[in-house]
Amino acid sequence: MEPDTREANPGGPAGVVYTRDELARRVEELGREISAFYRRKLGDESVVVLGVLKGSFVFLADLVRALDLRVQIEFIVASSYGDSTVTSGVVELLYEPAASLEGRHVLLVEDIVDTGTTLERLHVLLAESGARSVEVCALLLKEVEAFEEEARREGSEATDGPLRRPRWVGFDAPDEFLVGYGLDYSENFRHLPYIATLKEPVSPDVRAPGSEQAPPEGQ
Ligand code: PRP
Repeated sequence: MEPDTREANPGGPAGVVYTRDELARRVEELGREISAFYRRKLGDESVVVLGVLKGSFVFLADLVRALDLRVQIEFIVASSYGDSTVTSGVVELLYEPAASLEGRHVLLVEDIVDTGTTLERLHVLLAESGARSVEVCALLLKEVEAFEEEARREGSEATDGPLRRPRWVGFDAPDEFLVGYGLDYSENFRHLPYIATLKEPVSPDVRAPGSEQAPPEGQ
C-alpha cells in the first residue's frame, strides 16, 4: 500500500499518481515490447541502452532487467532544471557516453519528456555520434501537444524531426510537477518507489533559491 503523504509531509510529495505496482507492470510491458522490436531488427546484436542521468536511473535499472536482449549500458548526464521547477531552456551536457556510439543501435532512456528541450538536444548529439539507429523510451510524456504539432508540420505521425514522439512511452503524464522513481524537486524525492505530485506550497527546506512565490510549473 502507498503511504498517505497528503497530510504527513507538507511541501513534499502529495497525491500518488503511479503506484509502485503500476510502475512495475508498465515497465514489464515496455520490456516485452522493446525486446520484441529489437529481436526482429537485430537478431543477436547488442543494443546500447543510454540512460539520461540523473532522472532515469531508477527506471533504467528496472527496464534493463525486463529486457530479453543483449544490452550494453551507458549514461549521459544532461541537466536543464538545476534547482528550479522550470526549465532554463539550456541543456547542459555534464558527461557524454564513454563508449563510441558509431554504428551502434542506441535506445535512449528518459524518465520524463516535458517541454522536449532535452530530447531535442540529445537527438542532435546522437545524430552527430554516427549511431546506426536511435530510439527513445520515456517513462512519462507530458507535452504531447508539442509532438502532435511537430507531426502535423511534417505531415506524418512518426517524423524524423528532432521532436518526434518517443517510440515507447510508459504513461502520458498529467501536467503537474512529479517526483519519485528518479524524478526530483531540487534533488529531493528521487528515492520514492512511487510517483507523486508535489504538494504546494513548497516548504522552505526544499524551496529553490529565488522561487519563494513560484508554484511548480514544469518538470
Ligand atoms: C529532467 C528529466 C529530463 C528533462 C525533461 O532532467 O530527467 O531529462 O528534465 O524536461 P524537458 O523535456 O523540459 O527538457 P533535469 O534537467 O531535471 O535533470 P535530472 O535528470 O538530473 O533531474
